[in-house]
Amino acid sequence: MRTQVAIIGAGPAGLLLSHLLAQGGVSSVVLETRSEEYVAARIRAGILEHSSVELLESAGLGDRIRKEGDHHRGIYLQWPGERHHLDFVNLVGRSVWVYGQTEVQKDLVAARTAETYYDISDTSLHDVSDKPFVTFTDKSGKSQRLDCDVIAGCDGSFGPSRHAVPAAKVFEKTYPYSWFGILADVAPSTDELIYAWHPNGFALHSMRSATVSRLYLQVPNGTDPESWSDDRIWEELATRLGHGQNGWKLTPGPITDKSVLPMRSYVQTPMRHGNLYLAGDAAHIVPPTGAKGLNLAIADVALLSKALIALINEKNPALADRYSDDAQRRVWRCTHFSWWMTTMLHTSGDPFDAELQLSQLRWVANSEAGATGLAENYAGLPIGY
Ligand code: APR
Ligand code: PHB
Repeated sequence: MRTQVAIIGAGPAGLLLSHLLAQGGVSSVVLETRSEEYVAARIRAGILEHSSVELLESAGLGDRIRKEGDHHRGIYLQWPGERHHLDFVNLVGRSVWVYGQTEVQKDLVAARTAETYYDISDTSLHDVSDKPFVTFTDKSGKSQRLDCDVIAGCDGSFGPSRHAVPAAKVFEKTYPYSWFGILADVAPSTDELIYAWHPNGFALHSMRSATVSRLYLQVPNGTDPESWSDDRIWEELATRLGHGQNGWKLTPGPITDKSVLPMRSYVQTPMRHGNLYLAGDAAHIVPPTGAKGLNLAIADVALLSKALIALINEKNPALADRYSDDAQRRVWRCTHFSWWMTTMLHTSGDPFDAELQLSQLRWVANSEAGATGLAENYAGLPIGY
């Protein structure tokens, strides 16, 4: 087989890249280890930045976001006794949409034109600095070879692509806590997301729709989700989110999913080696506190698609040569923002840290300068920043 771009991974990065390339007249084939059903059902983040929505709209993928997504003007930031609304629209003229990654994935699958191989195994990248090709075993057990001009590694943090960049520099940070996430069949108890600092640990009230809530609790690493009963989860969420304060109530409901997510910051550079380009989680991981993972993957692909269209259609390598440096500016901005939100909101048990966090939260919530900094980063800088 032959194609112009072999895309490894059918997550949001891989499928969106394939879509944008097709619109620019560049062919691609997508290779994915998991089944189509598994990829479609995977529960992930739910916040789209302003510039992500603009990009999806300009690619013809915005209809359902406008109809079924939930536009949020900002977020609530709180600590015991105080809840503040940060209005991003007033602060920076941009804001966010609540629209699950599973929905983005559905839209991408519906719009897909490229051939996609699901359920493959033994993915292997070859000759990336000259005449690249990918070998794999397809669903029926047959060995396949896909020749191409370029390989796009969109295979997340566990895929093989990032290992095919020799002498890559890796920056990594782990955190001494995880997120315990639940999905519940209950209407959200809030109109916009609540990020809560509490001496017991961070909590977040998010949502997926008018009838489905998504909530998180900071827990120690290694926590077994089954060791928490549903009652205990709701009690702890009520405590940390301030049930009863100023008449606010958290309404519990049936929990349909429980999972524990470790937190990590990871950046690999460069994001290109020869004819191999990395995008999304294959090159960087952020902790979820700033809701940046999906948005960063979209921003990478916006740059990469333009670079590959110019390279392949016009033989112009200028954008491709700059891709890694261009992408990394935003990657580090989001890496810093996600680290900053994480370390401001998660308790470490150290009373000195706690006082610094509360001081910072008061400043962010009460000073226009502080609030604007958070809003500008959360609502997202323009693509190409
Ligand atoms: N061969 C083919 N595909 C692979 C291989 C492999 N050897 N290894 C992994 N994959 C696939 C995974 O199964 C997955 O479907 O690559 C895909 C990578 O997708 P994601 O993990 O979703 O990563 P990405 O597309 O970069 O999306 C960015 O948004 O919500 C955030 O962090 C979250 O993952 C998310 C991110
Ligand atoms: C989510 O809805 O899953 C979500 C929202 C905001 C975050 C992280 C996750 O910061």
